[in-house]
Amino acid sequence: MTMDDLDQLVARAQQDFAAAPTPAELENAKARFLGKTGRVTELLKALAALPVDEKKSRGALINRAKERVEAALHERRQAMARAELDAQLRAEALDVTLPGRRCGEGGLHPVSMTIARIEAIFASIGFDVADGPEIETDWMNFTALNSPQNHPARSMQDTFYVDLKDDEGRWLNLRTHTSPMQVRYARAHAARYAGQPSMPDIRVIAPGRTYRVDSDATHSPMFHQCEGLWIGENVSFKDLKAVFTDFCRQFFESDDLELRFRPSFFPFTEPSAEIDIAFASGPLKGRWLEVAGSGQVHPNVVRNFGLDPERHIGFAFGMGPDRLAMLRYGIDDLRLFFDGDLRFLSQFR
Ligand code: PHE
Repeated sequence: MTMDDLDQLVARAQQDFAAAPTPAELENAKARFLGKTGRVTELLKALAALPVDEKKSRGALINRAKERVEAALHERRQAMARAELDAQLRAEALDVTLPGRRCGEGGLHPVSMTIARIEAIFASIGFDVADGPEIETDWMNFTALNSPQNHPARSMQDTFYVDLKDDEGRWLNLRTHTSPMQVRYARAHAARYAGQPSMPDIRVIAPGRTYRVDSDATHSPMFHQCEGLWIGENVSFKDLKAVFTDFCRQFFESDDLELRFRPSFFPFTEPSAEIDIAFASGPLKGRWLEVAGSGQVHPNVVRNFGLDPERHIGFAFGMGPDRLAMLRYGIDDLRLFFDGDLRFLSQFR
């Protein structure tokens, strides 16, 4: 075998290695040259038959060729490993230019924000905040509030009746106002102080959902009210005026807001008044807007509280947080609050 033959052998190995498409086939090609019966190995074995000096010179040549074959193998192995890594990196690539997936940001409903605002203002002047059932007994919703059996508010046209009775056989309805909370709260308070020489004043607001058979741009079958009640031994209409005026000015952040107490009728108050407000500036300037019903609690109702109307007197009011939210945010259709359209609601975040 000549030098040229060795060069050819090396060239052949380089070609075979380069042509091997997979690591397994590369190892097969390696075996053909460097394995136990590979061509380079056979050449080295054949040296044994040669005389010493020839063995040396020829051995050196074959070893050079063997090194070149090994180098070619090494290079091809590395190229394959690099190609494999590249392919893997490409397959696992992340497109870091895609915008991230963010958590949806929630927010409070404008009516919830309004109720929280009402609670904070009344809490700051010593009112408790109470909560009660939306499915209410006929007695709490009407009878205890001095609404006679034939009162129009009790009719099916105004009230959602529930086809169920409570444990004591009383009909249930979806409360038409938060006023039954006057009765629930005052009765619990009176019971707690029964037999004591004196009783702390009852001072509470009760916001929540209320229901009536009514639906148009300014009425929704579900709406919100916030009841207020202050009962003591010396609480009068002038306290109602002071408390409610102070509340409105704080709520609307305006000192030149005007209030008007317009005579009205409710079965559970006597005398009764609608409370109207008028802004001194802004788009609603000078228009009287009704925001609450109110009055001095009727003696029959105080009796149903479990209290003596000769001793315990005071006032109640009921306002509409939905209406207050509409005025505060300048919204003209009540239904927007309850349609659940995020394009509307997200503006209040
Ligand atoms: N409950 C009355 C209504 O729904 C409002 C009101 C509450 C009036 C308390 C007087 C006293 O219209």
